[in-house]
Amino acid sequence: MEQTKHKGIYSTWQDKNNLLLTKSLTGKQSRFKEDTIDEDGTVYRVWDPTRSKLGAAIAKKLRYLPIRPGITVLYLGAANGYTPSFVSDILGEKGLLIALDHTAWVVRDLFLLTEKRSNMIALLEDARKPSQYAKKLPKVDCIYQDVAQRDQTEIFMKNADSLLKPRGYGILCIKARSIDVTKNPHEVYQTERSKLMKKFEIISMLNLNPYEKDHSFIICRKLK
Ligand SMILES: C[S@@+](CC[C@H](N)C(=O)[O-])C[C@H]1O[C@@H](n2cnc3c(N)ncnc32)[C@H](O)[C@@H]1O
Repeated sequence: MEQTKHKGIYSTWQDKNNLLLTKSLTGKQSRFKEDTIDEDGTVYRVWDPTRSKLGAAIAKKLRYLPIRPGITVLYLGAANGYTPSFVSDILGEKGLLIALDHTAWVVRDLFLLTEKRSNMIALLEDARKPSQYAKKLPKVDCIYQDVAQRDQTEIFMKNADSLLKPRGYGILCIKARSIDVTKNPHEVYQTERSKLMKKFEIISMLNLNPYEKDHSFIICRKLK
């Protein structure tokens, strides 16, 4: 097992495939039917980049990932928790993951995850309305967003205004087709990038093809 350049993320070769892994916070339990590998008493969970945009970005050799052990992450659009479960593994016992979604039946699954993951809490909220939950949450080091909405950049910026620490990081999965199906995806990415640049430094933009069609994975940092 090798530590990758991203703390908390590992890789190993198996049958000519380079697998991505995290150290499991929940032992051999695999809620998502993912494979596990036991090495010297440590259990690692295999992370499938075809099921996770964050996994895809890492498989595509993302240069810098601001998610690391011990920090606090607000995850907007946590769905049933597949990617959040790996973020929770990376953060480790000293970190905190706030996983938010507005769909009641997926948040029920998130609550089940939090029973086994002491560094994770689940929230049933609309990410368009941070004023309804910001006061009950701590300021966060990083906001990860995957909501596939027309106004996804505006949703991220509203949350960053109320909850992201100064110089904190944002990670956005921009789905071009949710914003405008008629436009060339590259035009859409540039428009969203310009909106972000008013308040954020753009660290990197990565196209997620072939794992995810017409998605850009943007990492940015709050200017102040
Ligand atoms: C593409 S899925 C996220 C997949 C997840 N990030 C993963 O990798 O496992 C998008 C999620 O965003 C949620 N969502 C969309 N609009 C939202 C909003 N306004 N507030 C909160 N969640 C929202 C949806 O309910 C859905 O679960």
